[in-house]
Amino acid sequence: MSQRFYITTPIYYVNDKPHIGHTYTTVLADVIARHRRMLGEEVYFLTGTDEHGQKIEKTAAARGMTPQALADEVMPNFRKLWERMEITHDYFVRTTDAAHKAVIQERFLQLLASSDIYKATYKGLYSVSDEAYVTETQAKEMQAQGLAHQLVELEEESYFFRLARYENWLIQLYEQYPEFVQPEFRLNEVKQFVSPGGERGFLQDLSISRTSITWGIPVPGDARHVVYVWFDALLNYLSACREGFWPPTVQVVGKDILRFHAIYWPAFLMAMFREAGDDLDGPLPARIREQLPHTILAHGWWLMGEDKMSKSKGNVVRPEELLRFGNDAARFFFMREMQVGLDRSFSFEGFMDRLNADLANGLGNLASRTLSMLQRYRKGVVPAAEVLDAQDREVLEAGRAVAPAYLAKAAASDFQGALDLLWTYLRHLDGYIVKAEPWKLAKDPAAQAKLDTVLCQLYRALRVTAVLVAPVMPDLAQQLWTGLGQSGRVADQRFANFQYEAPADAPVAEPTPLFQRIDKEAVMQEDQVPAAGATAYEVAPAVPEVAQPAPEPAPEETPLDLPPVKDVIEYDTFALMDLRVGQVLTAERVPKSKKLIKMTVDMGFETRTILGGIGTAYAPEDLVNRKVVVVANLAPRALMGTMSHGMLLAASDNNSKPYLVAPPDDAKPGFVVR
Ligand code: MSP
Repeated sequence: MSQRFYITTPIYYVNDKPHIGHTYTTVLADVIARHRRMLGEEVYFLTGTDEHGQKIEKTAAARGMTPQALADEVMPNFRKLWERMEITHDYFVRTTDAAHKAVIQERFLQLLASSDIYKATYKGLYSVSDEAYVTETQAKEMQAQGLAHQLVELEEESYFFRLARYENWLIQLYEQYPEFVQPEFRLNEVKQFVSPGGERGFLQDLSISRTSITWGIPVPGDARHVVYVWFDALLNYLSACREGFWPPTVQVVGKDILRFHAIYWPAFLMAMFREAGDDLDGPLPARIREQLPHTILAHGWWLMGEDKMSKSKGNVVRPEELLRFGNDAARFFFMREMQVGLDRSFSFEGFMDRLNADLANGLGNLASRTLSMLQRYRKGVVPAAEVLDAQDREVLEAGRAVAPAYLAKAAASDFQGALDLLWTYLRHLDGYIVKAEPWKLAKDPAAQAKLDTVLCQLYRALRVTAVLVAPVMPDLAQQLWTGLGQSGRVADQRFANFQYEAPADAPVAEPTPLFQRIDKEAVMQEDQVPAAGATAYEVAPAVPEVAQPAPEPAPEETPLDLPPVKDVIEYDTFALMDLRVGQVLTAERVPKSKKLIKMTVDMGFETRTILGGIGTAYAPEDLVNRKVVVVANLAPRALMGTMSHGMLLAASDNNSKPYLVAPPDDAKPGFVVR
């Protein structure tokens, strides 16, 4: 029987649409899943959505809808995105599924019966953002990080999980099975948390029910309580596992949720799988270890500048921004740029540079040169390499070594390292072409054997590349594979059966570009900036009270192109918007952008940086001192790498330039527009 491989992603909260942080986690898991299939393993790949808890309850309340309606609205964004990105999950779990709920209640009762869960009163501090009680040490840490506002005093009756009981086994798990958390340096963080400085008796029991919220799975037999969202969420891996695949082989998580996965999760499982005679103070039984996840793989964060990309900071990049260059491009970028475990700063320019260098030039160029030479000199038929000089032999040896080296890195989930060494090899081949000068060889009847060798080696390099990168770039790899005259699906190849030196199946095709070079300058000019996609003035709502007639009436011969009036909203919805008078202090153009102007604006209560897409209508010097209307409570967002905190109101139809909405001169910065 082939080896079984069970891989999971975290399940995503449905309080927001996916950003590239979420996308990265899922793509990483998908690349591993596809890779394992090509290793001949039988894979079960699980993803889904985390739909209960306070975050969802609050977001739904703010939007005037039920949490279930919110979940039903947001969940499809994840499903659709995964489809667009060719994610090959076998199952998509929702924590609101009846089958999942049943498992949670059943397991809750099991642990209640084994006294791993008990009821008591909790009094202390609670972190709203983490949805967790915090110890005094943690509270101090949060205060030091300026997060004190997220702490509230709480006294409530709660069910507790006897986490402290499992301290001994947890520590043994980390000591004896260091592969449990990867990369290894992350394991140290976990150890530090469980037993700081090697101290014992530090771990406290964990509250696993809430009475303060209602949006959750009711505690069986005590419906005043709902099950704590992390007990509910973590158990998705159990409730949605396919028969025969337990335990998880690799669980991909971000470092922010490592603690939940490396401490609470194995402890819950230990409690569920232990037997009455097991000694909790004795050695961790191998039988228990075998039921626990083999590896929790914790990756770092995508940052914007120095900050984590996250909804609450309003600095997110949406996957659509990357996907307009193709799915393979986005997937490749994630795998090529991010070293699993470390953080990485996102830059849109860096993204375009990487694709141009590695896909349009690098691989794309090598493929089109090789195929066109094979066409021109050999009618597409791949020759054998029979005569090898020292240089050819060096290329052959490097070529033979490339797949084993790539696979070794990939086995440790180091796709960045794997792709790096593969691209180093491809670059090396560019040098080989330059030295061998095949265009000269072609003209020399005595050099035909050497030309055969060169062409054959280039062909082999491309073929092994197609196979190795298939999990990362499924479509590009298939195109390359088919172009090389290979039959069938590249994804159906098995690494173990792959023969570097095997003859080609059939003649190669005419070259077709693998990846269209991105015209960076043109893209930057378009102002196709992250997030909403629309420039500020296109989404600015009309504010009749302060709107002034446009200073220059539109010429008569151009009919106005007015968008239809949007759906009616309630007054309460309108009142959520905080419009203020501001005064522009400084203004300058954003380099490489036609439309964007960066301004500092006096808001009366503070000075802000705001970017506006008004550069085609206003010169920076015209803006200084001008009074403007600002949407003051719009979440900050990144525009071409700079954070913009608010938006200026401007009026226009679909075609004309934007006209800034101008408050009267005596209006003061900070005045409320209502
Ligand atoms: N619902 C919980 C997970 C429960 S798993 C039993 C949750 N959801 S989340 O939607 O907020 O985030 C899920 C994952 O997205 C994070 O763990 C992390 O893997 C990923 N990321 C979110 N922001 C990220 C970055 N800025 N960078 C990289 N990944 C990050 O947590």
